Amino acid sequence: MGLKACIFDLDGVIVDTAKYHYLAWKKLATMLNINFTEVDNERLKGVSRMASLNIILEIGNMHPDDRTKEKYAALKNKWYVEYISRMTPDEILPGSVEFITELKAAGIKVGLGSASRNTPLILERVGIRHLFDAVADGNVVNKAKPDPEVFITAAKMLNTDPEFCVVFEDAVAGVEAALNAGMLCVGIGSEKTLTKAHFVVPGLALMNIGKLKEIEKNRRL
Ligand code: BG6
Ligand code: MG
Repeated sequence: MGLKACIFDLDGVIVDTAKYHYLAWKKLATMLNINFTEVDNERLKGVSRMASLNIILEIGNMHPDDRTKEKYAALKNKWYVEYISRMTPDEILPGSVEFITELKAAGIKVGLGSASRNTPLILERVGIRHLFDAVADGNVVNKAKPDPEVFITAAKMLNTDPEFCVVFEDAVAGVEAALNAGMLCVGIGSEKTLTKAHFVVPGLALMNIGKLKEIEKNRRL
């Protein structure tokens, strides 16, 4: 197999934190009298904190100044951190640890590529930091997905060229970032949403090295 490294998104791929992002944004939206629904929440997946706030303000047709926006984003993050501080290893999505363990045993490097600045806290809470050879997150990159910066940074940390990397992503912006990085991309979720991914599985529970080899072979055909 030509693939040398697997890079995983965190939120929605390894852990289900989307519900906590939603609850915290919903609290802010309610405070601002903005009607924000779970359907709207889909647009926030993979998107940075400030870009998410801008989407919510757009829904509410509100135009606060930058200082007020910083205040709103900090408030949302305070509520979000309250939720994730209570996370336990039970919240790791099925199959993630098993698949990563199988990859490592096969000598494939494993990295993380997430927009979240809360990545260190989440990894610590669910106890899986040791599984990753490299972590590229919102604390070390500046450009949000679909910019490829986070995945390119992870590949550099893993000393692997992008063409030998595969990304696992649940967000449309994240799939685009992987393609922009010149990497193979496995979408995690629905084929209807992740139309640009090279291959889509509902979750990592359905992934193993055999399947990965098959996906890689089909791309080359
Ligand atoms: C992504 C999430 O992983 O991280 C987004 O999918 C979130 O919903 C983004 O906005 C930034 O996260 P944080 O924790 O830095 O606010
Ligand atoms: Mg995600």
